[in-house]
Amino acid sequence: MKEIFPNVFKFEDRLYTKALSRKKVYDEKFIEKNGVYYRSWNPYKSKLAAAIVNGLKFLPIEKDYKVLYLGASAGTTPSHVSDIVEDGIVYALEYSPRIMRELLESCSDRYNMVPILGDANKPWEYSNMVEKADLIYEDVAQPNQSEILVKNAKWFLKKDGYAIIAIKARSIDVTKDPKEVFKEQKNFLEKNGFKVLEEIDIEPYEKDHVLFVCKYLEGALND
Ligand SMILES: C[S@@+](CC[C@H](N)C(=O)[O-])C[C@H]1O[C@@H](n2cnc3c(N)ncnc32)[C@H](O)[C@@H]1O
Repeated sequence: MKEIFPNVFKFEDRLYTKALSRKKVYDEKFIEKNGVYYRSWNPYKSKLAAAIVNGLKFLPIEKDYKVLYLGASAGTTPSHVSDIVEDGIVYALEYSPRIMRELLESCSDRYNMVPILGDANKPWEYSNMVEKADLIYEDVAQPNQSEILVKNAKWFLKKDGYAIIAIKARSIDVTKDPKEVFKEQKNFLEKNGFKVLEEIDIEPYEKDHVLFVCKYLEGALND
């Protein structure tokens, strides 16, 4: 097992996180080495794993980070982030009540993963449930996804905190060349307080998607 980022490991060309729980969240596999359990992390099921496999250089997630995760779905990627931040916390926001049932199940054996039913367009509705964050991770696949990130950063992101956002070109504009869409989104983020540190294409795992790793040069309004 080679630790390539905090609590993220590579073994025989596969990616793993150190398992915080032995309960399965999806169809991941567990392996045990010297009394420690690790969970396989599938790049076809998680865009963050795809970005790492595709050579992401900087993963801004430390073991004690407070993370606001927008678009948690059933908890696949959030559960791996929860493995990484073993001394931190993941606030996992999802707006579909149907999917929320699965998310609750995924959180049930994880002391650091807090499920929140809410709309990422309305941060004031969950502001009393979320602390200031070191990182906002967003994967909502909505046309206004960058605007949603900016809005949540103003409420919750610490100065010099980080954001990771999955940009799906087809959710924004199906008629445009994806490269053009990514450029526009980058410009928008950079005009609104972020510096894009890294842009990583996640093909072949997801088509017309990139992940941006960003630093927030401003800070939440009441920091
Ligand atoms: C692509 S999936 C996320 C997959 C997840 N990030 C993972 O890797 O395991 C997008 C999710 O965002 C949720 N979503 C979309 N718009 C949202 C919003 N405005 N507020 C909260 N969740 C939203 C959807 O219901 C869906 O579950």
